[in-house]
Amino acid sequence: MLLSQGAEAKIYVGDYKGKQCLIKERFIKKYRHPDLDKQITKERMRAESKAIKRCTESGILTPEIFYVDFEDRKIFMQYFSGSLTSKQYINEYLSNGLSESEEKLYKLCVGIGELIGKLHKNNIIHGDLTTSNFLVNPKSKDNFDEYELIVIDFGLSYYSQSAEDKAVDIYVLERALLSTHSNSPQMFNQVLDAYETVDEKSCREVITKFEEVRARGRKRTMIG
Ligand SMILES: Nc1ncnc2c1ncn2[C@@H]1O[C@H](COP(=O)(O)OP(=O)(O)OP(=O)(O)O)[C@@H](O)[C@H]1O
Ligand SMILES: [Mg+2]
Repeated sequence: MLLSQGAEAKIYVGDYKGKQCLIKERFIKKYRHPDLDKQITKERMRAESKAIKRCTESGILTPEIFYVDFEDRKIFMQYFSGSLTSKQYINEYLSNGLSESEEKLYKLCVGIGELIGKLHKNNIIHGDLTTSNFLVNPKSKDNFDEYELIVIDFGLSYYSQSAEDKAVDIYVLERALLSTHSNSPQMFNQVLDAYETVDEKSCREVITKFEEVRARGRKRTMIG
């Protein structure tokens, strides 16, 4: 069963040692030199499994990795069959305009902000923060009143203590929220407020940097 076909990978449900799992298979990019392609793919797969290991050690929820097959470019991981991406949860599950939905959206933003705060506290830069890369996993089947948030898609992630790197991570999220959820412009500030609560001192530094990064971005779009 094919779940998604992105720019880099094909995602499908399969099995690993008889157990249902999710397979993330990165395809060969014909326009790249084969050696370079191999190297990039390997780096992405390494980044993904390393970051997931770090998350696990830090108590951050991610899919468990069962097996990494560099030869066939596949990662076998835990499949959250009853989950929605936070993008789906917002666009397909919450109904626009309902005050109850507003509250749920706020709760989600707080959850995402705290989660990014935790990632950064542990010096994990995600590299591709979008609402497609957080899974909303209900605690009991089909009941989204209570859920846990799971981070996925660590192919562009890396380890860094730098406030600037963390700021860029957040900038990526802001751009993604503005384009994907343009009807809910309050989301980003809600995420950021929650982010700040995790580790006030270091998050403040990141937010100051973030404002610089954003100003640079503005300048670029004015010129370009
Ligand atoms: N462990 C999982 N359980 C359930 N669904 C998942 C899981 N991992 C991925 N998905 C689904 O597949 C989609 C794509 O996965 P993912 O974000 O890892 O790949 P991608 O965006 O194509 O990869 P990349 O950005 O590395 O090219 C997710 O948005 C989600 O809908
Ligand atoms: Mg993704």
